[in-house]
Amino acid sequence: MAHTQQARLLEPIAVRDVRFPNRIVISPMQQYAGTRDGRPTDWHHVHLSKLAIGGAGLIFTEALAICPEGRLTWSDLGIWLDEQVEPLARLAGAMAQYGAVPGAQINHAGRKASVQRPWDGFEPLTEADFAKRGDRPWPTVAPSPLAANPGWPIPRALGRDEIRRTLDQFAAAARRVRQAGFQALDVHGAHGYLIHTFLSPLSNARDDDYGGTFANRIRYALEVVDAVRSEWPADKPLFYRLSCVDDSEGGWTLDDTVALAREFGRRGVDVLDCSSGGLHKRTTTAIMPRIPGYQVPYAERVRRDTGMLTMAVGLIRDARHAESIVAEGSADFVAIGREALYNPHWPAQAAVALAGPERFDAWPPAYGWWLKMRDRVLLRSGLAR
Ligand SMILES: Cc1cc2nc3c(=O)[nH]c(=O)nc-3n(C[C@H](O)[C@H](O)[C@H](O)COP(=O)(O)O)c2cc1C
Repeated sequence: MAHTQQARLLEPIAVRDVRFPNRIVISPMQQYAGTRDGRPTDWHHVHLSKLAIGGAGLIFTEALAICPEGRLTWSDLGIWLDEQVEPLARLAGAMAQYGAVPGAQINHAGRKASVQRPWDGFEPLTEADFAKRGDRPWPTVAPSPLAANPGWPIPRALGRDEIRRTLDQFAAAARRVRQAGFQALDVHGAHGYLIHTFLSPLSNARDDDYGGTFANRIRYALEVVDAVRSEWPADKPLFYRLSCVDDSEGGWTLDDTVALAREFGRRGVDVLDCSSGGLHKRTTTAIMPRIPGYQVPYAERVRRDTGMLTMAVGLIRDARHAESIVAEGSADFVAIGREALYNPHWPAQAAVALAGPERFDAWPPAYGWWLKMRDRVLLRSGLAR
C-alpha cells in the first residue's frame, strides 16, 4: 500500500492552547463498570490506559453524570461530588502519561435515566431489578412529561428552579473536570438525553420560554454552554456532542443544527461533535442508513456553513476512509468507538498504514521498537506486515 507522508489524519492540531498530536479521537463509551456511587474501577483504568497506548490524539471518558439521577444505570460514572475528582484525575493522568490528550464527557440522562445495563436488557428499571440485583428504579425528569418510548415511565417535567439547579450542576461538573486535569470537555447534548429533549419538538411540549419556538427550545442548550464555559478555562477546548438530526420525521433537522452551531460558536463551543438520533430507544435507519461514515455529511455541512471545527463519528473503521474525511475537509477530528474496542491500537496501526513504518517510532518503545524490527524482518522476507 502506498504511504501518504502528509497524512492529514496524523497532523497535529491546536485548539485554544491545547495541542492534539493527531486527529484521531476515541469516542465516549460507557463501560457500565462503575461503583454504585459513581466511581471508576480498575476496569476503567485498564481500558483507558490501553486506549492511550493505542495512539489516539484525544480520548474521551464515558459520559460522567452531573447528578445521581442523571445516570443511565447504577454502573455509570459520576462527577457530582468533589470526592469523585481524585479517582477521575488518576484516569486523566494515565491517558496523558501514554500520550493522549485526556478528555471528559458530561451528561444528564433525563428521561432515558434509570435503565438496566445493556446486557440486562437496557429497559427501564423496575422493582424486579431491585429484588434481583439491588438496582432500585428512580423517577426521571425531562422538559415535558413525554415518555422516551411506549410503555416507558413518564418523566416529571422540570420546574424552572430545577432547570436552574441542573445548570449549576453542569457548571460544577465542568469545574471538577478541570480540577481532575482533563484538557478537553465534551458536553453530551445528543442521543435523547436531557439537553437533546429540550431541543427537539418531539420531546419538548413546554409552553414557557423553554418550549415552542426554535429560540425557546435552544435556550436550555445555550444556558448549559454558558454555565459550562463559566467554569471551563478559556485556554481549553469545548466540544459539544449534538444529534444533528432526529431519527423521526417532524423532529430536529440539519438546518436547525447549523443555526444552533452558529450560536454555539459565539458562546465558546470550539468543536461540534456530530452524532445523530437517539431520541427514542431504537434509532431507525429511515433518515440515514447505517453505512460507514453515515454521520460524516453532518460534520461536513456544519463545517462548511459555519466555519466551526467538527468531529465525525459513526462506523469509521478504515484508515484511508478516516484520512479522506479530514483530507477532503469534512471534519477536523475523526472519532472511533466500537472499532477501538475491537482493536485498541487502531490509531497507531492507522498511522503505520498511512505513513509507513517510521510511525512505529511514535508508539511507546516497549511495543514500537519491536514492531519496527519485526517489520524489517517481514520486509526482508518479502512478507506483508
Ligand atoms: C459501549 C458503548 C458506549 C457508549 N457510550 C457513549 C457515551 O457515554 N457517550 C456518548 O456520547 N456516546 C456513547 N456511545 C456512542 C459512541 O460514542 C459512538 O458515537 C457510536 O458508537 C458510533 O461510533 P462507532 O460506530 O465508531 O462505534 C457509546 C457507544 C458504545 C458502543
